[in-house]
Amino acid sequence: MENLRPRTLAEYIGQEDIKRELQVYLSAARARGEPLDHMLLTGFPGLGKTTLAQVVAQELGVNFRITSGAALERPGDLAAILTTLEERDILFIDEIHRLPKACEEVLYPAMEDFALDLVVGKGPGARAVRLKLPRFTLIGATTRPGLLSAPLRDRFGIIFKLDFYDEEALARIIERSARILGLEISEEAARIIASRSRGTPRVANRLLRRVRDFAQVHGPGPITREVAEKALELMDLDPLGLSPLDRRILLTILEKFDGGPVGLSTLATALCEDPQTLEDLYEPYLIRCGLLRRTRKGRVLTEKAYLYLKAPRDSLFF
Ligand code: ADE
Repeated sequence: MENLRPRTLAEYIGQEDIKRELQVYLSAARARGEPLDHMLLTGFPGLGKTTLAQVVAQELGVNFRITSGAALERPGDLAAILTTLEERDILFIDEIHRLPKACEEVLYPAMEDFALDLVVGKGPGARAVRLKLPRFTLIGATTRPGLLSAPLRDRFGIIFKLDFYDEEALARIIERSARILGLEISEEAARIIASRSRGTPRVANRLLRRVRDFAQVHGPGPITREVAEKALELMDLDPLGLSPLDRRILLTILEKFDGGPVGLSTLATALCEDPQTLEDLYEPYLIRCGLLRRTRKGRVLTEKAYLYLKAPRDSLFF
């Protein structure tokens, strides 16, 4: 599949505040010939955390090593990676909130002192050995920063929270991706796809590929407004970019729980969905759209959700 990821900061569209700040830290680190300080990237899935980390490596001209908190089971797994890093390399740990505690403890001296503490031997003869590591940069990414322990969080000198993208930025991302894919797309069509992309480049690029399929089958010809609209209709996306499951979440809260409040696990059971998936993947966008609220008592539909579902609150009872 064609790589649509930007490679340099100049190619990276959106997240302007982060780019401006990051540019300064990159220049300073480069000028000093030092590794960049450890960096934590937070934000919802698909907003470009991995992409941004790759861009950093590219900008610094260093190796990019990637792993995931879920893939590192034992301290030895992490040690094996740390000992093969080169000076100023980027080590990217995705889903760092899933890193086991024992691995986290290997990271502390690695991040702070570029040292790996090992125990050699067993029993009474065992002794601690400290290995020197190259000075590297850890970039951690997480959708759930609240799950990180304070000692780990505190060891990141740079923390960025990636935001949802506005329609303008998404339209530019779609136009750039279309160029890479060799597609002709009208500005209007790019805007329509952008408006259904849930503020997320990953969704935008996925929709563009599906629209391309549609245009190819119903084509030939450029992607016009009509083509984009028909393709999106086929995918059953509404003007807010809500999928059938998004709508089912709202309807379930309305019809089975009188609009809420309803607890996450109860809601997940009613929908036959995994609570974590609901919380991480579906709720953030519904909340951002102003359709759903998280309260201490549970999930509640907003006034806007009632309007959206065309069910005026009062008319439900009278
Ligand atoms: N593709 C995915 N994310 C992107 C971004 N932020 N800028 C440009 N292209 C992208």
